[in-house]
Amino acid sequence: MKPDNTSDFHSSRLSIAPMLDWTDRHCRYFHRLLSSQALLYTEMITTGAIIHGKGDFLTYSEEEHPVALQLGGSNPTDLATCAKLAQERGYDEINLNVGCPSDRVQNGRFGACLMGEPELVAECIAEMKAVVSIPVTVKTRIGIDDQDSYEFLTRFVSIVSEQGGCQDFTIHARKAWLSGLSPKENREIPPLDYPRAYQIKKDFPHLQIGVNGGVKTLDESLEHLAHLDGVMIGREAYQNPYLLAEVDQKIFGLDLPVKKRSQVVEEMYPYIEKQLANGSNLGHISRHMIGLFQAMPGGRQWRRYISENAHKKGAGVEVIQTALTKIPKELDV
Ligand SMILES: Cc1cc2nc3c(=O)[nH]c(=O)nc-3n(C[C@H](O)[C@H](O)[C@H](O)COP(=O)(O)O)c2cc1C
Repeated sequence: MKPDNTSDFHSSRLSIAPMLDWTDRHCRYFHRLLSSQALLYTEMITTGAIIHGKGDFLTYSEEEHPVALQLGGSNPTDLATCAKLAQERGYDEINLNVGCPSDRVQNGRFGACLMGEPELVAECIAEMKAVVSIPVTVKTRIGIDDQDSYEFLTRFVSIVSEQGGCQDFTIHARKAWLSGLSPKENREIPPLDYPRAYQIKKDFPHLQIGVNGGVKTLDESLEHLAHLDGVMIGREAYQNPYLLAEVDQKIFGLDLPVKKRSQVVEEMYPYIEKQLANGSNLGHISRHMIGLFQAMPGGRQWRRYISENAHKKGAGVEVIQTALTKIPKELDV
C-alpha cells in the first residue's frame, strides 16, 4: 500500500481490465500465476451491492496483489464508505467506473454518463481521497454521444484532476453511445482513437495516463508505452490468457523464466482444491482457464473436456488433469 495517494505506477504499466462476470477472484488468481507484476482489476462492484447487498463482495486472495477495486456509483458519501472499506480490506487502488454505457448503469446515474458531470466525478474522487491513502483512479471513455470533441475530454480531465485531485486516468480510447448501442457494441463500433489519449498525456504531463481498447499483443502495448504511462488489456487477456506469460519479462523487464502452460495449470491445483473445499464449484474456476491453449493442437479438446465435465456434481481437480492430457506433450510450450 502506498501512503501518498499516488498510483503504483510500476504495476499500472500493464493492467488487466475490469470485466463484469469475467475478472472475478478466481480469474484474477489465475492471471496472477501468469504475471506477477500486472495490476489486476476487479469487476465493477456497485456501492449499493457493497453497502446493502447480502454477501461479501470484497473477498479476494492475498496472492492477487496488486489488485484494484473498481467501484460503480455516483454518490460521494457512499463511494467514500466503500473506498474506506476496501482500503481496510487491503485493496491497492480504488478505480471509479466512468466508462460503462449499460442502461442499468445509466439509470443509476453512473458509468459513462458521468463524463457529462465532471464536477460530480471530482466530488466523488475528492470524498474518496479524503478517507483513504491508496490511489483513487478513473477509467473513462474519450467522449459520450455527440460530446466527443477533444475539448470535452480535456475539460473532463482538468476538472477531475484539479478539483478532485485524481492523478491517474485510464482512457478507453473510443467514445460511448449511451442510447442505441448495447455495451458489447459500444466496445466495437465507435472507432478507436489512440492519438487522443496520447494528446492528453502531452497536455497533462504531470498525470498518469493509460490507454485501453483493442490491444492484442505485448508489442502493441510497448508501442503505447512509448507515449503513455500504462496499457490496460481486456478481452484479449481473458480469451487468450497465455498472452500474459511474458508480461513480466517484456513489460516489466524481469529476468524470469517464462512458464509453460501446463505449469500454470498445475499451479492452479492447490487453489482449486482449497476453493472446492470451501464450497466453490469447479466450473466457476475452470471457465477462466479454457482459453489457455487457444489456437494450439489439443486446445479444442481441452476446452471441450472442461466445458462438458466441470459442471458435473462432485467434479474435482481430476477434470483439469484429464483435460491436460489432451495437449500433446511436445507442444506444451
Ligand atoms: C465481459 C466484459 C465485461 C466488462 N465489464 C466492465 C466493467 O465492469 N467495468 C469497466 O470499466 N469496463 C468493463 N468492460 C470494458 C473493459 O474493461 C474494456 O474497457 C473493454 O473491453 C475494451 O478493452 P479491450 O478491447 O482490451 O477488451 C467489460 C468488458 C467486457 C468484455
